[in-house]
Amino acid sequence: MKMKELIKITNLSKNFGKVKALNNINLNVYQGEWLAIMGPSGSGKSTLLNILSLMDTPSSGQYILDGQNLEQIQEEQKIQLRREKIGLIFQQFHLIPYLNALENVMLSQYYHSCVDEEDAKMMLEKVGLSHRLDHLPNQLSGGEQQRVCIARSLINNPELLLADEPTGNLDEANEEIVLQTLKKLKNEGKTIILITHNPDLAKFADRTICLHHGVLK
Ligand SMILES: Nc1ncnc2c1ncn2[C@@H]1O[C@H](COP(=O)(O)OP(=O)(O)OP(=O)(O)O)[C@@H](O)[C@H]1O
Ligand SMILES: [Mg+2]
Repeated sequence: MKMKELIKITNLSKNFGKVKALNNINLNVYQGEWLAIMGPSGSGKSTLLNILSLMDTPSSGQYILDGQNLEQIQEEQKIQLRREKIGLIFQQFHLIPYLNALENVMLSQYYHSCVDEEDAKMMLEKVGLSHRLDHLPNQLSGGEQQRVCIARSLINNPELLLADEPTGNLDEANEEIVLQTLKKLKNEGKTIILITHNPDLAKFADRTICLHHGVLK
């Protein structure tokens, strides 16, 4: 069976002034694949993820996402593509501080299409947080906040999940919960790209790539 290429990156570079954050990257990611990205601090991992998530644009090179050449589409279409296809998880959770767990997830629905409270509750239940729906982020532990983020990233059923050190702020028990959640998502057929410093986490990926000074090894 020929696997579908969800992501195809060719000769991609990103410069910040004189800094070559990404230097001539070539990368294909297949649908349903779990890819881990490792590499030292400053090697370009987050820069790559920002480009993959359409939050930033390359200085040169090509990025094709699900058959669409990102260079050739309008900003509006890009925003649409991001909403439809991509879920994002960050190390710093980026939850809205004055919205409770349920509302944080529902906000994501609101920006995508329409709000469905029952769906949002179900997603929080899935990550083991049905007893914390009305807690504000500062009333949640780090692991619980990260699980709200995961629920938020999944609520619109994205095909591609991008995670930038999702367990960087978590203790071992919560890291394990996040890992189990990622494994479940992989089994459901999601494509996962995970940045991590932790080889114990990377070993569950189908493939690991390493960045060094903006170059893929
Ligand atoms: N907005 C920016 N302006 C200028 N330089 C930047 C910018 N963003 C990143 N850089 C530089 O690009 C390089 C790659 O940064 P990046 O954040 O991608 O590294 P990283 O691999 O994610 O590191 P870490 O593991 O510490 O998160 C670094 O040298 C960084 O200083
Ligand atoms: Mg980073």
